[in-house]
Amino acid sequence: MQMDSFDKLYVDQLRDMYNAEKQLTKALPKMAKAASNQELRTALEEHLEVTKRQVERLEEVFRGLGRPATGKTCKGMAGLIEEGQEILEEDFEPDVLDAGIIAAAQKVEHYEIATYGTLRTFAETKGDTKSARILEEILEEEKEADRRLTDLAESSINMEAETAGEETGDEEFEEEGEGRTSPRAGTRQPGSESQRRREGDGPWL
Ligand SMILES: [Fe+2]
Repeated sequence: MQMDSFDKLYVDQLRDMYNAEKQLTKALPKMAKAASNQELRTALEEHLEVTKRQVERLEEVFRGLGRPATGKTCKGMAGLIEEGQEILEEDFEPDVLDAGIIAAAQKVEHYEIATYGTLRTFAETKGDTKSARILEEILEEEKEADRRLTDLAESSINMEAETAGEETGDEEFEEEGEGRTSPRAGTRQPGSESQRRREGDGPWL
C-alpha cells in the first residue's frame, strides 16, 4: 500500500534524525572544548542545549504518531562527525582550528536543515499539523545556528585563521599580529589588504 510505504519512509526519516541528534549531543561538547574563540565555544555550548531539547521534541512527535522513539543509525551524521573529528586531530593553529570547527559544524547544520525541511513537508502532506509545527520550529533553530556560525566566521574567525602564522616575513601582517592573543575579535583593520581579499570570495560559504 502506497500510504503505508510513505508512513514507513516518514518514520524512518524521523528515526534517522532522532539518532543524528543523539550523536550530536556527544560530538558538540568535544567541538566546544576544542574551540579557542570564546564566542564560538559559547555558540556550540548553547546549541548543545538546543539539541538536547530537540531530542525531547522529536520524542513528542513519536508519541503523537503512537510510535516508539527509537533511532536508526544515521550514517550521514556519523560521517560528518567523523570528518569533524579528523579536523580536531589535525595539528592546526588555534585560529585555523576554529575556522575548521565552523566548517564542520555548518556541514552538520545544513544536513539537519535539509532533513527537517523534508520531515516538516512530509508531516504537512500527511495532515499532521502538530508534528509539522514542531519540525518547523526545529528547522528554524538549525537555521539560526547556521546564521550564527556564519556571522562568527565572517566577523572575525576566518580573518584570524587567514593571518595565523603570518606574523613573520610579511610586514603588513606583522603589525596586525603583534601582541595578539586569541580570541582577537575586533582587532581587524578596516580596509586592510587581508580584509579586501576576503570580500567577495566567501571561502566558507
Ligand atoms: Fe538539531
